[in-house]
Amino acid sequence: MAIKFNKDTKVFTLDTNNTSYLFFVNEDNTLEHLYYGNKLNSYNLNYLHKFINGGWSSHYLDKVTLEEKEFKDYYSESALYELANSCTYDKRESPLLIKNKDNSFYNNFRYLKHKIYKYEGNPSIYPHSLHKLDNEEVLEIELYDELNDLTVILKYIVFPFENVISRSLKIKNGKLPNTIHKAYSFSLDLMNKEYSYLHFYGDWSYERHLEKSKISYGKQYISSFTGRSGHEENPSLILFNDSTSESNGECFGFSLVYSGNFKISLERNKFDSIRVMGGINEECFIKPLEAFEEFECPEVILTYSNQGFNALSHNFHDFIREHIITSKFVHEERPILLNSWEGFYFDFDTEKVIDYITKSKNIDNELFVLDDGWFINRNDDLNGLGDWEIDTNKVDLNKVIEACHKNNLKFGLWFEPEMINHKTKLFKEHRDYVLGRKDINLVLSRHQLVLDMSNDEVIDYLFNKISKILNTYDIDYVKWDHNRYLSEIYSEVNKGISEGYLYHLVTLGTYKLFYKLTHSFPNILFEGCASGGGRFDLGMLYYTPQIWCSDETDPIQRTFIQYGTSYIYPLSTIGAHVSKNPITSYKTKAEIALFGTYGFEFNPSKITLEDTLEIKEINEVFHKFHKDAIVDGDLYRLSNPFESNYFSMMSVSKNKEKAVVLLLNYKKETPRYRFLKLYGLNENYNYLLSNGEVVSGEHLMNVGINITRWLNEFDTEFLTLIKVD
Ligand code: GLA
Repeated sequence: MAIKFNKDTKVFTLDTNNTSYLFFVNEDNTLEHLYYGNKLNSYNLNYLHKFINGGWSSHYLDKVTLEEKEFKDYYSESALYELANSCTYDKRESPLLIKNKDNSFYNNFRYLKHKIYKYEGNPSIYPHSLHKLDNEEVLEIELYDELNDLTVILKYIVFPFENVISRSLKIKNGKLPNTIHKAYSFSLDLMNKEYSYLHFYGDWSYERHLEKSKISYGKQYISSFTGRSGHEENPSLILFNDSTSESNGECFGFSLVYSGNFKISLERNKFDSIRVMGGINEECFIKPLEAFEEFECPEVILTYSNQGFNALSHNFHDFIREHIITSKFVHEERPILLNSWEGFYFDFDTEKVIDYITKSKNIDNELFVLDDGWFINRNDDLNGLGDWEIDTNKVDLNKVIEACHKNNLKFGLWFEPEMINHKTKLFKEHRDYVLGRKDINLVLSRHQLVLDMSNDEVIDYLFNKISKILNTYDIDYVKWDHNRYLSEIYSEVNKGISEGYLYHLVTLGTYKLFYKLTHSFPNILFEGCASGGGRFDLGMLYYTPQIWCSDETDPIQRTFIQYGTSYIYPLSTIGAHVSKNPITSYKTKAEIALFGTYGFEFNPSKITLEDTLEIKEINEVFHKFHKDAIVDGDLYRLSNPFESNYFSMMSVSKNKEKAVVLLLNYKKETPRYRFLKLYGLNENYNYLLSNGEVVSGEHLMNVGINITRWLNEFDTEFLTLIKVD
């Protein structure tokens, strides 16, 4: 059993294969956290509890004895809480802020009851439980605040194999009206062991760069207030300590299953405890709760490893593949994709597209994607979004698809459903579909505004428009873009609500449209995108098994983006293409793109025969290795480009029979002893390397690969390994 409750000690134990998570109901009926870390086969409550409660202890007025010596019931401000109450003696920030009828924010949630059950039936779609469940064990704990007649339900689901615990939170109102000002999905108190945190910051064309920072005293946080998870920060965070490396040491990972405004905060207090918590960003968030109304927060994924970041990534990657991505393509070899965007942008007609498709036979792609520009009034980015009618004068989709099929290619199309240009028919007829008040000067971004996804009529309009095209034409793939962030939002159908809550409703509306389209067209491969990788999160991956990871197609810059993205997200989800950027050879560009979904983003008639041959060489590797080693494999990051002169990673098939290894050198280096130790192989196997050598797994993992030679700028060492008898 993964979840246990001991009636005597009132301890809850949540066990995965390698981790334990413990908390208990104390004498005050409050949930106190006891432990999260490496698996414990047994526990001693007194030891754990005493160990934690080293600080000041206070006590309730009605428990004071005459001598003031025996305080059976206590209130400890140094305790670790599973759900901290607000406006109490605990002065750390609380994950919930609920304004009561009398304008106070005091909450006192006490344990009422719990149930443990096996998950059955379909997972709900939104706003939480964005995952596939397979008989997992669930714990639901009901906490009650008598004074304010409020109930909180904490939900935990344990995924033993992936070493993941998912958490979510639901607020149920009683008879009194209350107003939610902040409702995070989780909070976790840990004793500080000199933890630092790693987060993924960035910008357009600069997504998910790594920053490691010490957790300082006081508060710090990462967040988004752009209406999407964003380029600027990813809704994920890793805690680790000084001795943690890729292959050793403790780390905790957190990732929100959410694509809207988020916040993950850290607080280090005077006792050196760390409170990490997160969920929907509370900025401008006010949600009044009517009597008996409920509010559910998005889920968060928690995982732990004492074997470094690589093992933590394995937990995330396995979990995302098995329990987040619902698309049937999750374990499939994806078709080699050629996207038209960087090849001809908006400048095309039927003839040009067909010529492009015919020439692409040279590079053996399997899918052709017509990007932006195929619909009416779309010859630049000033107009067209929202009407979703094919510009038949510009491009004949029937002929294009026919040409694809003649050349044995699948066909894909670009959409940007959530957006609208103000010169469109839709804008003229339905100004009420647009987010933003009529009486203010709205800000255009990329010349566009945003549709009100909180309005079901908008969802129906988009569903009908898009599904008409998907039903009429033979379409195998859809790229779903989102090219601006949200500002000045206001909804004609949801008037009188706070922006923060409206942002949330817009996010849920987007999920609704994704759900309807992906469920109506299960055979279409959907790829997410948001000006490159501006919405790369677990909420999106539920619907789209891959996401275009950045508009930066300079392969060197991209190594940093792909490296950062790989901490949380599996390589199979990372959209990566070879572009015309001349900074390296086509071979090097293809080797880098191979550690992602793989595909092309250039005009195939403009490359030389020599370049074509280089691409074909890596295409062959793709067909032999990608499915086993990359799509389903285990990733090992070998050298961190943010901290060294090399980018290096390898990915090994689950059965350890195949692997691909890449090392890229940035600055020129003269010969010096340089060995690259490999990981994750079977030490008893012999491997045939693509350079012709046969080497044992033991040698490869203990001695390594010798790269003692002159390394020029952007030289690579690229190897495939296959088990031989
Ligand atoms: C965004 C995407 C690009 C491309 C353009 C089209 O920037 O990230 O890949 O699709 O939109 O307008």
